[in-house]
Amino acid sequence: MESRRATRRAQNNTFQGQSRHSCWLVILACCVPRVAIIALLCSLPPFLSSSAASGSRRSMAATAPAHKRRRLSPGPTPLQPPLDALADELLFLVLDRVAAADPRALKSFALASRACHAAESRHRRILRPLRADLLPAALARYPSASRLDLSLCARVPDAALAAVPSGSSSLRAVDLSRSLGFGAAGLAALATACSDLADLDLSNGVHLGDAAAAEVARMRKLQRLSLSRCKALTDMGLGCVAVGCTDLRDLSLKWCLGVTDLGLQLLALKCKKITNLDLSYTMITKQSFLAIMKLPKLQVLTLLGCIGIDDDALCSLEKECSKSLQVLDMSHCQNITDVGVSSIVKSVPNLLELDLSYCCPVTTFMVRSLQKISKLQTLKLEGCKFMADALKAVGSSCVSIRELSLSKCSGVTDTELSFAISKLKDLQKLDITCCRNITDVSVAAITGSCTSLISLRMESCSHVSSGALQLIGKHCSYLEELDLTDSDLDDEGLKAIARCSNLSSLKIGICLRISDVGLTHIGKSCPKLWDVDLYRCGGISDDGVIQIAQGCPVLESINLSYCTEITDRSLMSLSKCTKLNTLEIRGCPRVSSAGLSEIAMGCRLLSKLDIKKCFEINDVGMLYLSQFSHCLRQINLSYCSVTDIGLLSLSSICGLQNMTIVHLAGITPNGLIAALMVCGGLTKVKLHEAFKSMMHPRMLKNVEARGCVFQWIDKPFKVEVEPCDVWKQQSQDVLVR
Ligand SMILES: *[C@@H]1O[C@H](CO)[C@@H](O)[C@H](O)[C@H]1NC(C)=O
Ligand SMILES: *[C@@H]1O[C@H](CO)[C@@H](O)[C@H](O)[C@H]1NC(C)=O
Ligand SMILES: *[C@@H]1O[C@H](CO)[C@@H](O)[C@H](O)[C@H]1NC(C)=O
Ligand SMILES: *[C@@H]1O[C@H](CO)[C@@H](O)[C@H](O)[C@H]1NC(C)=O
Ligand SMILES: *[C@@H]1O[C@H](CO)[C@@H](O)[C@H](O)[C@H]1NC(C)=O
Ligand SMILES: *[C@@H]1O[C@H](CO)[C@@H](O)[C@H](O)[C@H]1NC(C)=O
Repeated sequence: MESRRATRRAQNNTFQGQSRHSCWLVILACCVPRVAIIALLCSLPPFLSSSAASGSRRSMAATAPAHKRRRLSPGPTPLQPPLDALADELLFLVLDRVAAADPRALKSFALASRACHAAESRHRRILRPLRADLLPAALARYPSASRLDLSLCARVPDAALAAVPSGSSSLRAVDLSRSLGFGAAGLAALATACSDLADLDLSNGVHLGDAAAAEVARMRKLQRLSLSRCKALTDMGLGCVAVGCTDLRDLSLKWCLGVTDLGLQLLALKCKKITNLDLSYTMITKQSFLAIMKLPKLQVLTLLGCIGIDDDALCSLEKECSKSLQVLDMSHCQNITDVGVSSIVKSVPNLLELDLSYCCPVTTFMVRSLQKISKLQTLKLEGCKFMADALKAVGSSCVSIRELSLSKCSGVTDTELSFAISKLKDLQKLDITCCRNITDVSVAAITGSCTSLISLRMESCSHVSSGALQLIGKHCSYLEELDLTDSDLDDEGLKAIARCSNLSSLKIGICLRISDVGLTHIGKSCPKLWDVDLYRCGGISDDGVIQIAQGCPVLESINLSYCTEITDRSLMSLSKCTKLNTLEIRGCPRVSSAGLSEIAMGCRLLSKLDIKKCFEINDVGMLYLSQFSHCLRQINLSYCSVTDIGLLSLSSICGLQNMTIVHLAGITPNGLIAALMVCGGLTKVKLHEAFKSMMHPRMLKNVEARGCVFQWIDKPFKVEVEPCDVWKQQSQDVLVR
């Protein structure tokens, strides 16, 4: 069963004044030619007005004066220290240039202010280059760096890794999880150069095989290794790692489809210090299972989707086989039944957390056996079918649990849930998402006995009345996380919920009965909110959003998609939330570039932005993003009024990784090519299929060779956005089928 959503789904002393600030921009511009181009573009008002033809005149008129004011007579009180406004990667790029010109300059930079000092020392420890070709220089300049994070480099050729100077003994951690292009040769160079490497992330190395693993095996001091999705790895490669890296504590072999019992047996024999092991979706069976379970220090074992683990394997374990194991995840192990589960519990007496989601029907027999794990705190049974009386048994047999997940379970009835809840006095987290048959009876039981709840998720519990939802606020005042998406919640309910003054995450999307009045209560009383989801709340408008923006200064993420009434006023107030990193305003036709430009200038940490179907947003908005939003990583601007110019300026944001640009009427193949060429860090681009034939295949190959994946979309052009109530009714019909 799916939820409705899822159905579619410093003032620091150096750079205070504007003159210094612009001096800073000049340095930046010299270093990054693209930034210079954009800065130039931005200083040419005639250029802006000529692009107005493509966008909306109204928004242009609204933006231009504000824009000029900023450039010509800057406000004397910038809200943030200017350094905070630069993404680290850009700042580091500048520092690299400064150091190259004169090493002493780096010292004076660090002495300039506390912020400068902090930035410089951070850079000395962690290297996060924007492109692989910047790596050798950075490594040479910062020989004592301990972490090398290559997650912004989509492509890291062997030659780049070969440039790591030998004797880089301070380097402890290397992250290659998002990079392609390297192989055994590069890893061999890394193994030679960094003798003390302890942490290596090779996740998503679909191209890495046994030869690569053999080089990893030379890194004798490795403690943490991720090989998840290294699908070409076989027992041969794993064998090398097991023999070479006997100090391993934390190993992920998730999705290593080529790994079988043979390799795992060797691992269990050689790597006795392992505490965390992820074997999800591997071919493990009974043959190596016992050896793995007997690893003396094993604390966390993840067996998600291991279909080779069956009752036979579970029943083969001895009594008290692992005293160290604390967390066992057997979710999606489809060949297990209640017999297997009740057998394994005797072998893991000290378990704290058990995940049996999407595993097997839950019976009373199985639940009673859980009594043997006396310290069990967390029980996850997502997507399970409850047989008669099994849920009641949870109440009598698992009295110590603090966290229970029944999300998307069938067979959860009021009578059984109320009984179980009345016994679980220590419950702190409860998830009953999509338990569609429960009613006010269950909610009365929950609010009556679980008064120390800190997390309650009940999306799509559609038979619960608005009156019952008020009880939540009245009785569960410790709540920090609350999900009432797609419920009957109204303003009175929100007024009650406003009592939960520690609330940090509130998800109330698709609640059509709430209005600005309710949001005002929340804004006034919940200052710790950092995550707010108001997806498709058709009844709210600017006044409500403004109350949230004013009352919740630590807001990091807000979803206002399809709140069709909201305008630039909302964005202007949200621009004061300086921590905002995620903004979703998809399908808000009344917002424009004027509002977006305020967000760009105010929310410098913005990293994810969805403005799909914000038709009024045009190139001006993109120019502001390109100038201020240096942390932007992901953007969806399908259907916006953006042309080649806007796209090209956007592509000057060095760290941009994911871009969805379907149905942009103002884009030409040439403009697209230019943008793709400039934006070297792109890893994923969603485009309309029509462009595929218009672009030169060699051109596409070039971009792909840098590590970018294209996803071609052929959805028809559809402008209109249904009102929330129509949409809700339609998706209801789909659910009922
Ligand atoms: C496990 O289940 C799959 C299908 O879910 C089946 O094909 C297989 O034979 C079962 N048994 C084992 C031991 O893998
Ligand atoms: C709700 O109850 C009906 C009737 O007892 C049953 O057919 C249905 O499967 C139940 N749904 C869930 C999600 O438990
Ligand atoms: C809020 O959290 C603080 C610190 O975690 C705690 O001391 C306080 O009791 C909580 N207040 C409520 C109403 O939950
Ligand atoms: C906004 O809502 C949509 C639809 O439910 C969801 O997919 C998305 O993750 C939400 N985004 C945020 C930031 O909450
Ligand atoms: C970009 O998309 C990929 C694949 O969907 C995802 O794994 C990655 O986290 C996304 N990056 C960002 C910065 O959101
Ligand atoms: C918006 O863009 C992001 C990444 O670019 C993508 O993951 C997401 O699916 C897009 N949303 C829609 C509705 O297209």
